[in-house]
Amino acid sequence: MSDRIEVDRLPWRRGAWRPSVGELAGWLTCGLQETKLLYAEADALRLREVGDEVHLRGLIEFSNFCVRRCDYCGIRAPNRAAERYRMSPTEIVTCALRAKEAGCGTVVLQSGEDPWWTTERLCALVRDIKKRADLAVTLSVGERPARDYQRFREAGCDRYLLRFETSDEALYARLHPDGTLVERLKCLEAIRAAGLQVGSGFMIGLPFSGVEHIARDILFATELHLDMIGCGPYIAHPGTPLAGAALIEDREVYFRVISLLRLLNPRAHIPAATAFDALAPSGRDFLLQRGANVFMPNMTPAVYRRHYMLYPGKPCVDEDAAACAACVRARIARLNRRVGAGPGHSLMSSRADAHGRAS
Ligand code: 5AD
Ligand code: FES
Repeated sequence: MSDRIEVDRLPWRRGAWRPSVGELAGWLTCGLQETKLLYAEADALRLREVGDEVHLRGLIEFSNFCVRRCDYCGIRAPNRAAERYRMSPTEIVTCALRAKEAGCGTVVLQSGEDPWWTTERLCALVRDIKKRADLAVTLSVGERPARDYQRFREAGCDRYLLRFETSDEALYARLHPDGTLVERLKCLEAIRAAGLQVGSGFMIGLPFSGVEHIARDILFATELHLDMIGCGPYIAHPGTPLAGAALIEDREVYFRVISLLRLLNPRAHIPAATAFDALAPSGRDFLLQRGANVFMPNMTPAVYRRHYMLYPGKPCVDEDAAACAACVRARIARLNRRVGAGPGHSLMSSRADAHGRAS
């Protein structure tokens, strides 16, 4: 069979691709030649559908206080070894303005579930940032009552990030002593209903899960019709009940997930998640050539950064915001890509129309 025929036979080239769990599992574990093809196809589709621009979302990890006990997470409440910090609103705004100067069109404000940060305080923070800079604001502060998401939107918040972590209800329950998958999904619905652009995703390679779980997570993320799909490798943290859990032996599985997500979600924003750099030195750069189109430089001040340790081996902990931003720009230039101009809003047709922002 010639190469030409093989390429023509690729299932995603024959119109809307609706793979079964088994078919996806096959692609997740495919051989070297098919893997190369998968990456090349995802990269070509990324170029066609979302272009050459890499949107920069400056990540500000503004508090690592957290009331939850998620089994995988290094800042879970019971982890006494985590040194806790909370940035002041003034510090956060300064940081956001720095992110803007560094070329970010968006700031992502992320924290543990920290009760000090009430809805009022978060809304005031969003308003302040929107007033001072032409920035899109993404909040990522966990599960809240539905009304809160509306208030965030009213304060000018553009997007919200809340991963579903795993689509397997039993596994979700096993890893989250404080919540259920159903509650998580209700939050995602409320976020969308509030008019916020929705980002979600899952951890790849959680303990007690295999390749079919990953296939189901990919299909689940696709069905949610997300504006942004963020997924990264699960990396065991020594201060958690899951300490010592191993990475997936075939590291390419992690990368194949992102390529498959691109093939199934042509117009979604897909970030090269930070945890990929913990996996391999240029992990995020590879991802930008395998389907991803978003990069999230860390804009958290250096003094706090090392304490926002969700997993060990987090990259850039010794860098400051300026160094990270410069590094990211150099990385993008090396790949012959361009830094995205503007806020980089959703490209998903229904949402873009609703927001009257993107074409
Ligand atoms: N390894 C990888 N990702 C993790 N997260 C939390 N703990 C870990 C870990 N040990 C991810 C979760 C969460 C996001 C902010 O970080 O998916 O939603
Ligand atoms: Fe942070 Fe390179 S991306 S130092």
